[in-house]
Amino acid sequence: MRVLGIETSCDETAAAVVENGIKILGNKVASQVDIHSRYGGVVPEVASRQHLLSIVPVLKECLRDASLTMEQIDALAVTCGPGLAGSLLVGVNFAKSIAMAAGKPLIGINHLEGHIYANWLTPGQTPRFPALALIVSGGHTDLVLMRDHGDYQLIGRTRDDAAGEAFDKAARLLNLGYPGGPVIEKAAKSGKVTLKLPKGIIPGSFDFSFSGLKTALYRLAETGQVASPNDAAASFQEAVVKILVKRTLAAAEEHGVNQILLAGGVAANSRLREKMIEDSPIPVSIPPLSLCTDNAAIIASCGYFHMVKGERSNLDLDVYPSMPF
Ligand code: KG4
Ligand code: ZN
Repeated sequence: MRVLGIETSCDETAAAVVENGIKILGNKVASQVDIHSRYGGVVPEVASRQHLLSIVPVLKECLRDASLTMEQIDALAVTCGPGLAGSLLVGVNFAKSIAMAAGKPLIGINHLEGHIYANWLTPGQTPRFPALALIVSGGHTDLVLMRDHGDYQLIGRTRDDAAGEAFDKAARLLNLGYPGGPVIEKAAKSGKVTLKLPKGIIPGSFDFSFSGLKTALYRLAETGQVASPNDAAASFQEAVVKILVKRTLAAAEEHGVNQILLAGGVAANSRLREKMIEDSPIPVSIPPLSLCTDNAAIIASCGYFHMVKGERSNLDLDVYPSMPF
């Protein structure tokens, strides 16, 4: 089964074709990062207008790369939440129009669930259940116990900022630019871990907290204790990575999982990837960088695993900007 995925939940316009949930035939992403970096963050109104301009060319390029026509597509999967309402609306209405015009089945996908499926698209990986997924993105930090496809239990989440949001805010504080994750990672490579930052552990739960870290960094900067932005970036990155790895491994041990799955934009962070593998006694699946950040192949893959169970969305599919996991 060939599924066409459409993703427009934030600032990336993306289309991809995936065969049987695991094989990428075409994968196109048009990033708006240069447009939004002028404002230091995503401007929702600008994002939805840009999606409108990009969606048709992105789909055409994706089909051309895959050497496929719409007739050779079996089904459509589209992100319907969580995300920016105006951005989600572009993708959902586009996918519904194609599904109706071409008479193909359609399924609406939770963007966060989609992120996990980067692990099924990773060459050489066949994740084993039960698995524990750490989803670390710009808006979410979730620990999800996955017993099978579609069988999820949220066992930990952030109480305040998401991990990606923490990177973005720290980068702004240190005047390093946008988006925060990649610029902090780059600065950290030339820095040393010199600052003492809080551990952000919430006792008795697998939840996360990153706002204390951000506040501590702010205080240090305000009182002139940040001599080197590179050292501050290295210290901040190390603190976030330690929290993520420690919580994940504690949860993995308690739930006796066979596999750890990394997912979401922050999973592109090389220090997180390295430390998770170093410290984990359990096999860790880590998708390639291009599948960690937003793309439509993850949506198509996730869509396939729902479709094979007979699940479908109707043409009254709506967007759900605050959709929980
Ligand atoms: O999953 P994603 O692409 O979009 C959302 O669904 O939110 O994640 C975006 C987030 C941003 O906060 C960005 O700063 C962070 O992922 N990110 C990183 C890295 N690359 C992207 N964080 C740390 N290190 C990176 N290399
Ligand atoms: Zn995402």
